[in-house]
Amino acid sequence: MNHFVWRKGVLHAEGVPLTAIADAVGTPTYVYSSATLTRHFRVVSEAFGGAPHLICYSVKANSTLAILRLLAGLGGGFDIVSGGELARVRQAGGDAGKTVFAGVGKTQEEMEAALAAGILLFNVESAEELEALDAVGRRLGRRAPFALRVNPDVDARTHRYISTGLKTSKFGVPFEEAVALYTRAKKLKGVRAAGLDCHIGSQLTQSSPVRAALTKVAGLYSELKTQGHPLAYLDVGGGLGITYSDETPPSPEEYARTVLAATKDTGAHLILEPGRALVGNAGVLLTRVLYRKRTPAKHFVVVDAGMNDLLRPALYEAHHAMQPLVKRRGKAVEVDVVGPVCESTDVLAKARPLVLPQAGELFAFMSAGAYGMSMASNYNSRPRPAEVMVDGDAWRVVRERERIEDLWRGERA
Ligand code: LLP
Repeated sequence: MNHFVWRKGVLHAEGVPLTAIADAVGTPTYVYSSATLTRHFRVVSEAFGGAPHLICYSVKANSTLAILRLLAGLGGGFDIVSGGELARVRQAGGDAGKTVFAGVGKTQEEMEAALAAGILLFNVESAEELEALDAVGRRLGRRAPFALRVNPDVDARTHRYISTGLKTSKFGVPFEEAVALYTRAKKLKGVRAAGLDCHIGSQLTQSSPVRAALTKVAGLYSELKTQGHPLAYLDVGGGLGITYSDETPPSPEEYARTVLAATKDTGAHLILEPGRALVGNAGVLLTRVLYRKRTPAKHFVVVDAGMNDLLRPALYEAHHAMQPLVKRRGKAVEVDVVGPVCESTDVLAKARPLVLPQAGELFAFMSAGAYGMSMASNYNSRPRPAEVMVDGDAWRVVRERERIEDLWRGERA
């Protein structure tokens, strides 16, 4: 459920016509619905009901301060993967004490900053990283609370680029090595075992891989507890999928039932790391048609947003629905909607039936709230888009469009 709705033939975000935002701010622009964000956070949280849990929003999905601030205000914690994300969380008023830190390549500087900030959990991904964290802990005179991220070797059945729980993946430590590492950690003075973690992939549309992975991980959790490791948290990762076109991911309720059933015997405090499920369908990317072009093979529509603004179609052949901001009638033809970037993969919508638009017409790429702006770049020296947050009938720019001078900030010719 989201709050992008048609009213009198015009696509709105909550009470605001998207045409008004495009006219005032220009395009390309990301627009977020605060009601949708709030609703998604509450639905996920309520699905877990009275079971002790903490929602740590996965910052990489969209790290814009206004979004972090909104989720912090709802009581959310954060899942980070860099010192930069930690800094963003703190800048937005997020609680370091509700923050978990994953990633295979944390530097000692990043660990130090996170430990000094008092984060809840380091999700450690290798034996060498555990030793490095211990060194940092001893240097700061504190024990860094950690969970080992284990790799359950389960096929998440999602796009191979966003599958993380296979034996061949760089993420986590092999399941079989976990017990020995917790035993080793007991001898280290700079770390303290506090939990166990896993994450098998993103855009999960089936419950069975989640069930299989968590059943394994819950068993390990109980075994570690029996051995006397003082674990309190079981971090089940993120990954709950959303509907981009015709996918039917588990509902938050079904997802929660799966997680709770698999972990019920652990008595653990659950940590959830949803990213996409919270922000994906809470954001759209507005774009304007520049040109039409017909070749012997195809109709092309050239728009002012490109793969630098929304990378997902180019990188994963991802599908984003495309809606005109003003409803149109006419006969649809098959078009490729392309951006201005000089790459053949700069195709935002491939072979879509579309009533051929005029130059200047406005469109929205839907479901663009997750991994849209956070993966945007300056490729082809294109300033990154503006971002707008809508709240009821009100809206505000939460990130200005980059200016041309921003393109060379810090450079010396
Ligand atoms: N936790 C960990 C350890 C992760 O690696 C990720 C995502 C998440 C949580 C959040 O997953 P989510 O709930 O958003 O599925 N750029 C890709 C997705 C990459 C996901 C990376 N890790 C895309 O646009 O589809």
